[in-house]
Amino acid sequence: MDTTRLSGKHVLITGAAQGMGAAVARHYAAQGAKVCLGDINVDGVAQVAKEIEQDGGEATHVELNVTDQDQAAAAVAHTVEAFGSINVLLNNAGINKPLFFLDITRENYQKIMEVNAWGKLNVMQAAARQMKAQGPQDSPYKIINVGSILSRDTFDDVVVYGMSQHAVLALIKGGAKSLMEHNITVNGYAPGVVRTEMWEQLDRDLVEIGKFDKPGESMDSLAENMILMKRYSYPEDIVGTASFLASPESDYMTGQLIMIDGGMVIQ
Ligand SMILES: NC(=O)c1ccc[n+]([C@@H]2O[C@H](COP(=O)([O-])OP(=O)(O)OC[C@H]3O[C@@H](n4cnc5c(N)ncnc54)[C@H](O)[C@@H]3O)[C@@H](O)[C@H]2O)c1
Repeated sequence: MDTTRLSGKHVLITGAAQGMGAAVARHYAAQGAKVCLGDINVDGVAQVAKEIEQDGGEATHVELNVTDQDQAAAAVAHTVEAFGSINVLLNNAGINKPLFFLDITRENYQKIMEVNAWGKLNVMQAAARQMKAQGPQDSPYKIINVGSILSRDTFDDVVVYGMSQHAVLALIKGGAKSLMEHNITVNGYAPGVVRTEMWEQLDRDLVEIGKFDKPGESMDSLAENMILMKRYSYPEDIVGTASFLASPESDYMTGQLIMIDGGMVIQ
């Protein structure tokens, strides 16, 4: 591994207490980035930050609910206080709760859209305001939004999640067009089926609503029937693309969403 690939990168990562956020934080730090980990699970991010430091990386953590404007501004300020500036935002926090179309409630809609769509916009604004204030730098500032295969397709049992992920794609496109004048690029990556706590919970919820008969069936069924590579993924499958988007190698890119799904949704 190139331990200097991301040196000089000062990154705020949302939803970093577990799953892909924590894995990407570790991978970034191992390549020389300084990382600030934000999450509603403050004990979780404290633990991940501690482990990164024990491994020789530089990390700090902050309590962050991405839906809260004051907390978003405070998380950006904390990153700047710790590292002197912020030049990358990894906008990763997200939630899901499956329901079939006619069972969708306003509460389900509002909860998912609030975190996945408004939460992403909210933290983008907080980071972009600071990046704009910091002024010119050689390499562009980078905002990386985590989308999903459901940014490009939607399934019958996760329509609201699909709506929220289409909103993430709109934020990538709209953010790119709005923020280039401040030297900020906006891109994203879109995982497919990744075995994290989110998917473990989704698997239980899918059994509960009657989509699958027994635990574990959902991931195996999708791997067998819908993924060209015939396997689901792990956070380790995702971290390389996340690093590329934070690195200077992606400087001439904006407004793009890269699929990392083993060939599940091809457009
Ligand atoms: N797991 C998958 O298969 C999959 C596939 C495509 C996209 N995604 C997306 O990738 C991202 C990471 O997913 P994951 O599987 O690692 O999930 P995860 O549930 O393992 O981790 C998500 C983290 O986000 C945090 N979080 C939730 N709400 C928050 C809020 N309001 N403010 C701050 N933090 C909050 C949680 O505490 C948790 O630490 C999410 O945006 C998810 O939608 C996941």
